[in-house]
Amino acid sequence: MADDRRKTKSKYTSDRLIPGSFEGETVTRRRFMTGTVNIAGAVAVSAIALPALGFALGPVFERTELKWQAVGTPDEFPETTYVPKVITIVAGIGQAGKSTAYVRKRNPNIDTDKPDKYNQYVAISTRCMHLGCPVRFVEAASRFICPCHGGVYNFEGLVDGGPPVRPLDRFYTRVRNGQVELGPRYSVNSELHRFSPRDPAQPLDGIGQYLYPSRPTVRKLPPPQS
Ligand code: FES
Repeated sequence: MADDRRKTKSKYTSDRLIPGSFEGETVTRRRFMTGTVNIAGAVAVSAIALPALGFALGPVFERTELKWQAVGTPDEFPETTYVPKVITIVAGIGQAGKSTAYVRKRNPNIDTDKPDKYNQYVAISTRCMHLGCPVRFVEAASRFICPCHGGVYNFEGLVDGGPPVRPLDRFYTRVRNGQVELGPRYSVNSELHRFSPRDPAQPLDGIGQYLYPSRPTVRKLPPPQS
């Protein structure tokens, strides 16, 4: 009995008495056909799934170019109110890629964030940090107001009321060739500490900064530039 079992386990089909077997054959036709069908299936699935996966994940890993854009001469921007400027957020898609930034000169009596070469002008993003509606600076109230769900931000862009989870995002600023330039966007927490840009509804205070990491391509803040 034990001998028979050993015999049927031979790798040669002829030893296993399979009808139609050839001398020296080790793979049964059934196994060969099953393997062929499995490989064909895997190729077909890969042909559909891999391009779709690449299409979906590609933009996540696409590095965004570091660009600065001029918005006006320094004397255009007072310390006590904001000047709205239209800037390009995504190039090459026309009006859909434009947004408004509110820009003013830094005011040491108002601004509480640490001064450096990138914040001598304050440029505030108009994207609400609740769900992304465009906010508007209301000069009479000295506040940014969101029309969607009543979000209110103070003069520095810090949350004053309503559902927004963090202050308004900002843009790096610098002066080059007699022009104020806006660089990449960055996010801030309630103490105006800088973080790589996050999406709306992602808080940055406490463990929020760890729960909502930025995308891999925008994780690094730009290196200091002269
Ligand atoms: S999107 Fe601004 S408060 Fe909701």
